[in-house]
This record gives sequence, C-alpha cells and structure tokens, in this order.
Amino acid sequence: MPKVLIIYYSRSGNTKAMATAVEEGVKSEGLDIQLKDVKDVSPRELLEYEGIIIGSPTYYGTMAGQIKLLLDESVKYHGKLAGKVGGAFSSSGILGGGNETTVLDILKALLIHGMIIQGSPMGPHYGPVAIGKPSAGNRNQCVKLGKSVAQLVKRLA
Ligand SMILES: Cc1cc2nc3c(=O)[nH]c(=O)nc-3n(C[C@H](O)[C@H](O)[C@H](O)COP(=O)(O)O)c2cc1C
Repeated sequence: MPKVLIIYYSRSGNTKAMATAVEEGVKSEGLDIQLKDVKDVSPRELLEYEGIIIGSPTYYGTMAGQIKLLLDESVKYHGKLAGKVGGAFSSSGILGGGNETTVLDILKALLIHGMIIQGSPMGPHYGPVAIGKPSAGNRNQCVKLGKSVAQLVKRLA
C-alpha cells in the first residue's frame, strides 16, 4: 500500500495541530501514514514514501531552519524523489505575516526535487495556512489537503 509521510516542526503546537488534521485526511483515504516531528526524520527516509507533506511555522516569512535543514540535506537524494506527490502548510502569527510565502518556499523545494504538487482552485490555493491556533475551518482545509494528496497518490500508484 502506498505510504504518506507528514513532517512538521512546531515550537508551540499550532503547526502540529494542523499536521494532525492533515493526518486525519490521509487516513480517511485508507493509506499508510506516518506523522513525524522533523527531528525524527532522516533525509533517507524520504525515499520510502509516495507522498510527502511538510508543515512549518512561518519564521521571518519563510520556513523554520529545522525544515530547511532537512531539505538541504535531502540533496543527497536529488533526483530520487521525482514523481512523488507533495504538499505544504504553515502557521503564522499574523495575517500577512508570510504564511503563503512559507508554503510556496516549501513547495518550490519539492518541485525542484521533481515532485508533483496539486493546487486547489477553491480555498487556500497553495496549501492550508492558519493564524496562531488553527480554527475549525483551518483544520478542515488541512483534512482536505491530506485527502487530496492521498487521492493523487492512489491515482498514480
Ligand atoms: C523566530 C520566529 C519568527 C517568526 N516569524 C514570523 C513571521 O515572519 N510572520 C508571522 O506572522 N509570524 C512569525 N512568527 C510567529 C509564528 O509563526 C507563530 O507563532 C506560529 O503559530 C508558531 O507555530 P508553532 O506553534 O507550530 O510553533 C515567528 C515566530 C518565531 C519564534
């Protein structure tokens, strides 16, 4: 069965709360799912999954250093992640605080790896974003991200 990995960094729990909602969405599609703090993820592990979704708090308008470090170290496997399905989400402190640029920065790295990203014509186009603690609506958008990544993984399998 295809597997999906959700990686997050979260200092005060907001991004983690989004990650658990994304997990719920993947699970509802019946795929194997691992939810991991970035500190527990080695770049090599990325090879094992058909879908990889990354969540980060917005730090200075981009991803946290912990997430960037994993992406930088993933250069070891450059070219080997091509064709996998990706997604991203972010929590920021304020509206206009850079959560969309954070999502796009993560997605850019995944695209450079050759991964496949599905945008959303309705709702958050690039990936779910939240201001502080995710609302019920934000959580619902995260569930939808998990579902859409899982559905695309299944279609490609
Ligand atoms: C080092 C640092 C930089 C931050 N930079 C931004 C920022 O540029 N824009 C913003 O809106 N919030 C910023 N924040 C706030 C966090 O993005 C926000 O509190 C987020 O919800 C934290 O997520 P977490 O609970 O998963 O750690 C920053 C916080 C820290 C600690």
